[in-house]
Amino acid sequence: MRARIIGVALIGVFGCSGETQVELTAFGEAFVEEGIEAEAFVDGWSVSFSELVVSVNDVRTSPGGPVSSGGFVVDLSLPSGGDGHPLTRTAVEGDVLQSVHYRLSPPSGEVEGNATAAQVDRLRAEGLAVWAQGTATRDGQIVEFAWGIPADLSFDCDVGTRLSPGTPAGVELTMHGDHLFVDDLEVAPNVAFNEVARADSDGDGLVVPSELAAVPLAGLARYQTGGRTDIDDLWAYVGAAALTMPHVDGEGNCTPRFVPDAYATFETADADPALGAEVYAEQCASCHGAEGNGDGPGGAGMSPRPSDLTNPPPGARAAGYIAFRTARGGAMFPYASAMPAYEDVLDEAELASVVAYVREFSGG
Ligand code: HEC
Repeated sequence: MRARIIGVALIGVFGCSGETQVELTAFGEAFVEEGIEAEAFVDGWSVSFSELVVSVNDVRTSPGGPVSSGGFVVDLSLPSGGDGHPLTRTAVEGDVLQSVHYRLSPPSGEVEGNATAAQVDRLRAEGLAVWAQGTATRDGQIVEFAWGIPADLSFDCDVGTRLSPGTPAGVELTMHGDHLFVDDLEVAPNVAFNEVARADSDGDGLVVPSELAAVPLAGLARYQTGGRTDIDDLWAYVGAAALTMPHVDGEGNCTPRFVPDAYATFETADADPALGAEVYAEQCASCHGAEGNGDGPGGAGMSPRPSDLTNPPPGARAAGYIAFRTARGGAMFPYASAMPAYEDVLDEAELASVVAYVREFSGG
């Protein structure tokens, strides 16, 4: 209702009709639609996808809000002629579309998109966010892969597209399918398939997750980028690499935010407001600022900068997320920041109290 009234007011003032609209698409790039050629690989393989199905939920724009009541399941391997697959069109008030938020997670409830019912059912039944299937070829050797990747991760993507009434602004959720085959998570990793091909232990020409999980990587620094220490087999690594696929408008940055199982049910019911204020002032204010604006003197010149806790993106609002980030800090993939880890500094009551205190900055 409100949008209508403002729309009418705009027509009155500027004499132009039409509200500002955003057209959302999902695209896997030519790598996914046409295949990854041998030139892109360091080890002579080439890959073609028969399916790259992604399940995207909770899509919101800022300004704006949720773009639909359900989620989208899209097979990015289908040809789109380079335009991407249309998701939805949504009305947004404002001059600039600042960001887009979405969750890569299994389908729940109603879904839209080009995926078949069978593809949606498989993700739903197995709790998967991504299904990747295809063929790698080198010198006449053919190795197939069929991987269902469970994930529940939020992405907050910076957009910055100007909005003008009449012409819908396009925003593309771009999935970099080649990241499934990167050989580490550093800034300029190789695209390679040798390790995956070698994992085919039963020699049947199909590499499945259990075979990748049998390849140990524990302690191999190359796979523990950004201080991550939990990647101990090739399957865990492929899962981590898959979560670096999401981008926006081609190369645009998306910050992943997720709540690990250990924090999923984190409770602040026992929080003590006075204790929360004390812990915050002693431990956090130097960087995040006394009022949580991210402007503390200790954070000056830091890159990335201390977050503004008064205006968190949707993925950063859950108590479990704040608890996880406070406990584990920033020395891990993908954050790579100077935020200290507090798991050995704060006891349970202090952690719950400071989490509740931080949530108050954005209205609880
Ligand atoms: C030495 C500086 C520093 C201190 C001290 C610090 N932080 Fe941070 N914090 C950062 C930086 C830098 C970031 C942004 C990069 C990142 O996400 O790791 C951040 C990010 C966060 C985030 C994630 C926000 C988001 O939008 O994803 C939370 C939550 C947070 N800090 C809470 C706290 C709490 C609670 C304390 C005190 C117990 C604290 N921080 C102490 C530097 C600091």
